[in-house]
Amino acid sequence: MGILRGRFITLEGGEGAGKSTQAQRLAEALRGQGIEVVVTREPGGSPRAEKIREAILSGLIAPLGPVAEAMMFTAARIDHLDKTIRPALKRGAFVVCDRFADSTRAYQGALGNIDPRLIRSLERIAIGADKPDLTIMVDVPAAVGMARAAQRGGAPDRFESEAPAFHEALRRSFLEIAASEPERCVVVNGAQAPEIVARDIWSAVQARLPVAGEAPKMILKPKSKPRWAAKSKAGAK
Ligand code: TMP
Repeated sequence: MGILRGRFITLEGGEGAGKSTQAQRLAEALRGQGIEVVVTREPGGSPRAEKIREAILSGLIAPLGPVAEAMMFTAARIDHLDKTIRPALKRGAFVVCDRFADSTRAYQGALGNIDPRLIRSLERIAIGADKPDLTIMVDVPAAVGMARAAQRGGAPDRFESEAPAFHEALRRSFLEIAASEPERCVVVNGAQAPEIVARDIWSAVQARLPVAGEAPKMILKPKSKPRWAAKSKAGAK
């Protein structure tokens, strides 16, 4: 990819870690620095990958086993990279992605009966050189995450309905990934108040990808509108 390549940031963690909220907050903070940001998610992030998401989370693929599920997540990832992530990076944008390949390693790995070498091969085929520049592991105790996920209401999806031991194994797995790739990963305590988690994530982004400037005030006061937003609105009148 050319010199202009943007930056690829992924947020990872178990159920109810608060990743989606934090992805939005991080994007707002980056936009406050004048950076173009694409917020996306996995599984999904492109029209075809969103359809694959529906199939997986409905439980349609589960009877085929974790290998088949890992392949479906990979198929969705191939389209997501082609249609959304690579084009954004190519034009110099930041991509903030809620889950990516570490979720396959952790979730499909935790389901068992799957050779880690297969997962690594799928990763190599789908991702190639486009690994994340930075991965934020939003870490919460499994019980806390599951309680938060339950509060969201609605029927639990394919993975939320797995046993507590599965969610404990997931947490260990994400922490092991972070420990094994410290140059890419930063662990943030997701059990704190959302604004503190946002501040910690911003600090990690500044430390690792120094293209971002000072923490904007809006990160600590998420309800107030950033000054640049007010300005651009007035300018549009
Ligand atoms: P979420 O977007 O609401 O977190 O739902 C996605 C679910 O899919 C979540 O339970 C994690 C799971 N998942 C995997 O099992 N493997 C993967 O590779 C990805 C991206 C997600």
